Amino acid sequence: MYRTHTCGELRMAQTGQQVTLAGWVQRIRKFGSITFIDLRDRYGITQLLLGEELNDLLDKQPLGREFVLQATGVVSERSNKNPNIPTGDIEIKIASFVILNKSVTPPFTIQDDTDGGDDLRMKFRYLDLRRNAVKKNLELRYAVNRAARNYLHENNFMDIETPFLIKSTPEGARDFVVPSRMNPGQFYALPQSPQTFKQLLMVSGYDRYYQVVKCFRDEDLRADRQPEFTQIDCEMAFVEQEDILNMFEGMVKHIFKAVKGLEVTEKVQRMSWEEAMWQYGNDKPDIRFGMQLLNIKSAFTKDGKLQANGELIAGADFKVFNDAETVVAIAVPGCAEYARKQTDELTEWVKRPQIGMQGLVFIKCNADGTYKSSVDKFFTEDKLKAIADAAGAKAGDLVLILAGAEERTRKAMSELRLEMGERLGLRKKDEFKLLWVLDFPLFEYAEDDNRWVARHHPFTSPKPDHIEVMIKNNPVIEKAAEYLKHPYANIKANAYDMVLNGNEIGGGSIRIFQRDLQEKMFAALGMSEEEALHKFGFLLGAFEYGAPPHGGIAFGFDRLCAILGGSESIRDFIAFPKNNSGRDVMLDAPSAIDQKQFDELQIKLNLQ
Ligand code: AMO
Repeated sequence: MYRTHTCGELRMAQTGQQVTLAGWVQRIRKFGSITFIDLRDRYGITQLLLGEELNDLLDKQPLGREFVLQATGVVSERSNKNPNIPTGDIEIKIASFVILNKSVTPPFTIQDDTDGGDDLRMKFRYLDLRRNAVKKNLELRYAVNRAARNYLHENNFMDIETPFLIKSTPEGARDFVVPSRMNPGQFYALPQSPQTFKQLLMVSGYDRYYQVVKCFRDEDLRADRQPEFTQIDCEMAFVEQEDILNMFEGMVKHIFKAVKGLEVTEKVQRMSWEEAMWQYGNDKPDIRFGMQLLNIKSAFTKDGKLQANGELIAGADFKVFNDAETVVAIAVPGCAEYARKQTDELTEWVKRPQIGMQGLVFIKCNADGTYKSSVDKFFTEDKLKAIADAAGAKAGDLVLILAGAEERTRKAMSELRLEMGERLGLRKKDEFKLLWVLDFPLFEYAEDDNRWVARHHPFTSPKPDHIEVMIKNNPVIEKAAEYLKHPYANIKANAYDMVLNGNEIGGGSIRIFQRDLQEKMFAALGMSEEEALHKFGFLLGAFEYGAPPHGGIAFGFDRLCAILGGSESIRDFIAFPKNNSGRDVMLDAPSAIDQKQFDELQIKLNLQ
């Protein structure tokens, strides 16, 4: 037997017992003729005391950091207790030890505040994983996994695996492809999600399906994106949107309770996509703080109507506002006293290429009731006050205004709002605000191809009232610049996203389940009948054999874990992640393959 106990287990109650521990040497301290060793395993750290009688042995078999050690001795009360660790009251007086394996000096110290940079830690990820901080993240991940599975199991969901070597599933990214040796010249695609399979399972009668499953997407990477990531993927039959929202709101609340001890009793707030865009400039708003957008002037229509026509700024001879498609403002609480240096810095911030604005206009709402602005030349104090009031500014607040093209300006203001929220400490890591965003547009305009693409995916159903509009209108966009006037631009989908603290943690929809409507959808996306049959004949066929009404959702498991763990980066919550260039630096993958492999696949490289 290698060990009787773990390194996190022993307490005062076991004093006097003979025990054997095994683990890694975290730290060695020599005091005269005695040696203290901190022995570490997954469960904790226990102090070993090696007395004078073991000095000869220690001389012959010197120990080093990360050596694997087995030691036997008696649990004893410590004279110098350490209240910071659960085993801090005791130590083991060692009678004998065996070095099970040696270690070369690790490239960075295996402790919470390690001296290893990102690259080094990724190259030696197996050592990084020994660190407490990373271990805690993986423990949290496992707790979320268990809580989700328990909830879904209790609610009659069945975990069913679906294949990885498949034909393309359209989720908006590029596919990773795998050549087939047995079918030369042909390729599998790795699933971007199990979307079509879970729908087929509904046709097969497995009315509640789930899977904690890897998805593969070849897209540009960010802190919250990995080329392979994990979804908690779910589908239900005989449901309406309301059933799905309730079921999965329940799941997330269950996870919060099980993992964070947080009891969320109130219903999750809901907001339409239009509302989100209008008030936050963003379809995944962080609602932990206010600072909502004031649309002074807009081309974007809310509820099919243009609601901001620029009255507040009318009459002033300010070209920047007059020429802009959109003018939008926020009131930043308590920042009227920003010095010139600070407003200049904010202006530089919005001019950075990532934000891409030409400049920033501000109005200081001074405590004495006066208004001072960077556009004093063009606006009377009354006008400035009117804008500030409309933005909801109080005395002491700073109003920030951006003007420009609709989409870019809205996006920039959304970023600026988040930045100001961050600077003012309003985005607290230990505060969790859930939100459902509903009624997304069914289509999105793809400028490059001048056609419509599915905003969620092509299996999402239009709102019942909008089906006619989709069927009756020709999808062709005559004038690219006027795509917003096409009837398709206003068709809404039975689609929903769950947002947590400004992050999209899940998305789904009620599906189309009739062959003819699905065919119309493919046609609306510019697919010919042959193409639709070639790509999705299996699904269209299945819909002819009694497909039940169904819908579902998939949660970004890595993202959910990262947010619950208070981190921006999902990498920290994945045991073996890829870097921002999609590389596994530990394996050095992707890498070239042997000529023999190419020959077997009958593939010739033609690198450009
Ligand atoms: P969607 O594409 O919205 O929906 O994905 C669902 C959730 O998965 C997470 N996610 C990602 N996480 C990490 N890295 C990525 N590259 C990445 N891409 C997406 C997000 C997202 O909300 N089949 C549909 C679901 C459905 O309709 O039921 C789908 O995959 O948190």
